[in-house]
Amino acid sequence: MEERVKTNIPGLDEILNGGFMPSDLVLLTGPAGTGKTIMACQYLYNSIRFFNSPGVFISFEERPEDVKKHMTNFGWYFDKYEEEGMMTFVKYDPLHIEDIFGLIENNIHEIGAKRVVIDSITGLGLNIKNTSDLRASIFNIGRMLKRSGCTSILTSEIPTENPKMLSTFGVEEHVADDVIVLYRVPREASFVRAIYVWKMRGSMHSEKIHPYNITKKGIVVYPKDEIKVFNTG
Ligand SMILES: Nc1ncnc2c1ncn2[C@@H]1O[C@H](COP(=O)(O)OP(=O)(O)OP(=O)(O)O)[C@@H](O)[C@H]1O
Ligand SMILES: [Mg+2]
Repeated sequence: MEERVKTNIPGLDEILNGGFMPSDLVLLTGPAGTGKTIMACQYLYNSIRFFNSPGVFISFEERPEDVKKHMTNFGWYFDKYEEEGMMTFVKYDPLHIEDIFGLIENNIHEIGAKRVVIDSITGLGLNIKNTSDLRASIFNIGRMLKRSGCTSILTSEIPTENPKMLSTFGVEEHVADDVIVLYRVPREASFVRAIYVWKMRGSMHSEKIHPYNITKKGIVVYPKDEIKVFNTG
C-alpha cells in the first residue's frame, strides 16, 4: 500500500484505510460542538509529537489563545511547540485582509509545514459573495496547499437548520478530496457521537457509521463498532 499520512488519532486511521493520502484536502464537517476543532488540533499535535513534522493552524473564528488554552485540557501544550518553531497559530479576519492566500503560504514556508488546518472554511467564505467565487476560492486554496506538499484539514459547519447539507455553502465537499462527517445520533435520554467517511478520492474506506468519544486524551474513534440509525427521515 502506498504511504499514508497517519493522524494517529485512535481508530481514525483504521476507518481511513491507513490514513490520508499525501497532499489530500480533507473537509471535516459537522454541526456545532461535534469536536471539529479538537480533532483538527489533535491531527497537528500528533504530527509534531509522533512524526516531528511541523504544522500550521489558521483560525478564522476563535482566537488562537482560546484554542490553545482549551487544548491543554487534553494535555496538548502547543505553546512549547510554537516556541520551538514547530507550530504556528494565526488568526485572520477575512473581512479585513486582501491576500490571505499569500499570507497562509508564507506561514507554511516559514516553518516548512507539511500539515495545515483551516478552521473554518465557513469563516473564510463569509466574505465571498457567490457560490462560484467561493468554489474557485476553495479550489485555489487547495491548489496552493497541495503545491506546498501539505496534507490539510478544512473544517466546515453543517447548518443546524438544514442537517441534510454536508457544509455551509454546499460546494466545499465537491472541492475536497476527502470528507469526514461528525454528528450526533439521539439515543434515549442522551446522544451518541457518530463519525463516517463520506468520500475519499482514490481510496477504499469504511462505509460504516462509527461511534467516537471526546475523552481526556482527545478524540477516540471505535472502528470495530457501528451505529445503527433508525430515524433517517
Ligand atoms: N475537556 C473536554 N472533555 C470532553 N469533552 C470536551 C472537552 N472539551 C470540550 N468537549 C466537548 O467538545 C465540544 C467542543 O468541541 P469543538 O470546539 O472541537 O467543536 P466544534 O465542532 O469545533 O464546534 P464549533 O462548530 O462550534 O466550532 C464541546 O461542546 C464538548 O462537548
Ligand atoms: Mg470549532
